[in-house]
Parts: sequence; C-alpha cells; structure tokens
Amino acid sequence: MVGANKRFPFQPNLSFTIYHLPLRKVHLSEILTHLGEDRENYFNAVSPPIIQSSNFAFSSLEEFRKDVTDELANHIYTRGNNPTVEILRKKLAALEGAEDALVVASGAGATAMAMLANVKAGDHVICVKNPYSWTKNLLMNFLPRFGVSHTFVDGTEIANIEAAIQPNTTFLYLESPNTMTFELQDLAACAKLAKQHGIVTMIDNSNCTPLYQRPIEHGIDIVMHTGTKYLNGHSDVVCGVICASHEMIRKIFQTEIMTLGNIIGPHDAWLIIRGLRTLELRVKRSFESARKIAQWLESHPKVEQVLFPFLPSFPQFELAQKQMTGCGGLITIFLKTDSMEKVEAFFNRLERFTFAVSWGGHESLLVPMAAFYGIEGRENPPYPFTLVRLYIGLEDPDWLMEDLAQALEVV
Ligand SMILES: Cc1ncc(COP(=O)(O)O)c(C=O)c1O
Repeated sequence: MVGANKRFPFQPNLSFTIYHLPLRKVHLSEILTHLGEDRENYFNAVSPPIIQSSNFAFSSLEEFRKDVTDELANHIYTRGNNPTVEILRKKLAALEGAEDALVVASGAGATAMAMLANVKAGDHVICVKNPYSWTKNLLMNFLPRFGVSHTFVDGTEIANIEAAIQPNTTFLYLESPNTMTFELQDLAACAKLAKQHGIVTMIDNSNCTPLYQRPIEHGIDIVMHTGTKYLNGHSDVVCGVICASHEMIRKIFQTEIMTLGNIIGPHDAWLIIRGLRTLELRVKRSFESARKIAQWLESHPKVEQVLFPFLPSFPQFELAQKQMTGCGGLITIFLKTDSMEKVEAFFNRLERFTFAVSWGGHESLLVPMAAFYGIEGRENPPYPFTLVRLYIGLEDPDWLMEDLAQALEVV
C-alpha cells in the first residue's frame, strides 16, 4: 500500500509535538513570531504552509492503527486536526496561558460548543445580564429545548452571582468587559465562588484580548474569543477560539466539535496566523487611540456621557486596573440631545467612520442605537437612541477626532 510519505522524496514531518508553556515563560514576541512553527519540516519557509487537505494518509497498517484512535493529537482528518490549524492552536493556547486551544468556525459557535459540552438536561446556567446577543439567544431559545435553564444576573456585584446559585447550577458564563456598556466581573472572586460550588466558569475575553487580560491566571476554566475581531484583525475571517485545560479541550472536542463539525478551514487558520503577527501593534494602537479619543469626548460639551473602562470616571475603573492592563478600542457615548433629528444629523455628517456591526479590524466603525428604534414588530432597545458605539481602528486618532468634532457641531 502506498502512503503519502512514500510518494515524495521530501518527507515532511508534520506531527508536531503539542507543547504548551505557561505564558509567563514564553515571550509574547516568541508566540506571535515563532511558537508552533516547525519550519525545518516545510523547506524552512518563514510562512507556514496551508495544508489544504481533508485527510491524511498512513504508510502502514501499523501506523494507521496507532494514530487513528486519537483524532485530536494526530493528523487523520481535518474535522479533527489539521497541521495549519494546529500551529494556530498552539499560539492561541500560549497567548491565554492555557494548556490547549480549539479554533472553530465562529465565536458564537465557540460559546455554544463549550457550554453544550458542560451542561445536561436539568442543569442551570448563570450568565451575566448583557452578554453578546447570540449568547443570550443560546440561553433563552436554544438550551431550554434540551432542559437547561438559566438566570441572567448583574455580574458587577459578586453577591448577585452568589444569590443566583441553585443546587443544579453547573455553569457560570462571564463577559468582562462586555462590548456595549463594558460591565466587568471580578474574575478571581467569580472563580473562587464557582470552585466552592463545583461550577465550571467560562468567559468571553474578546474585548481585552489575551494581551490585556488572562482569565485563566485568575482561575477561570474556559476562555473564548470571537477570533473574528482582534485575533484575526483584518475583517476578513469569521472564527472562534476556546482555550482551556487539556482535559476540558478534549471533552469539548470529543463530543461537540467532532459531532457538530463546527470547524475552521486551513486557509482561514493561516490568515489568522498572519493576523497574529501584528496583534500587539494593532491592539495597542487601537487601545491608545481609543483612550485619547474617549478623554477628548468626555470634555466635549455635546456629549452627555462617555463609557470606556480606562477612564477614571468609569464606574468600575478600579477593578479594570486590577485585572486588566488595557482594553479594546470600543467606546460608547451618549449624545447630549433629546432629538432624533439631531442624532440623525450627527450620523449623516460623519465621513471617516463606517456604519457597521463588529469591531477589532483595521477600520473605525460605529453602531448607531437609533438604527434599532421604530422597527416594526420589534421592541425598542433597552438603550437610549442617543447611544453611539464607536470602534477605534488603526487610523490616526487626530484624523478621527476631526471628523467627530465637525459632526458634533450639529448636535
Ligand atoms: C463580544 C462578542 N462575543 C462573541 C461574538 C460572536 O462572534 P462571531 O461573530 O465570531 O460568531 C461577538 C460578535 O460580534 C462579540 O462581539
């Protein structure tokens, strides 16, 4: 029988050893530039190959028999493990200080897979009050079909979480900061409380990225990201990330990932590896520009309020400083007006921000709450129509402020 390795004179050894080093022992630059890349196995190319193959051949029955039992560790079939995706998994695990990571087709999928793997009929989930909308949908409309109940709580006070614990609570879902009004949870306190009750903890860490917050160091069990945002960073891939212990990753992989097949393809994984090369530069630029713009907006007479975790006026500024070293480039402002017309005029004058959902890419964006008002058959949102969520991308912050200044004149 002819296996793949026998056909070619060059025999690439793509069976990387899975090694996960605690974050502090590996420099960020090492992770983003080298970790996981066994270049001697692919012609010393500095950019890794895209192994665009659905399956992998064995050269003998013996080899087949040995590898086929472990789809996570070996290269058998790309729904399980693909060498390009594996490079990315190693980098992401190291970034979060986790033992292992999985990369899946979307952030929403990452949340769903990890939660599904840890609940069963009759269980109860506690979730922070304003998570990402499709996380809310998972809890409100999906999991109840399988007998899993939930309680949404204001997670800014640990006492609220404690009060919501029921005898059947098995899972605590956090999002700190969230991406609209940036409420935080005290991660160490949540992890401690959950451990006392045998509850698995998970956090959406997309806003901070692992550069600015590493929840596993605070005792959180599972960290997810919408890799669609900063991790990829170029607004051209949708993906999700799950970081956790070897045991937890294997559990999620073995049932949810392999059964539901929610995987990322090698080409998208390669794009994210490329995106990661500049993660530090991009996130830093976005955070620092956002802080500058948030400070300026706070003193602007046409702005009622500015929400940004690293403004001293932010209600949880102290906690932000305690458990985060920065945050993403999202800012929420409330315009000082009662008039929808003035709000509309403001948006119509802006030229350098793009109307769009999402964030974490190169381009500055805005979400106007006013767009969700007066939609037939839908309730108005729980936020005022004067709310504007800005995402500050990689452009010159002064150039963006010029635009905001001229648009604010009409408010
Ligand atoms: C905070 C947050 N979590 C999760 C998601 C879902 O990620 P994805 O769009 O990659 O499925 C999003 C998407 O906008 C998000 O903003």
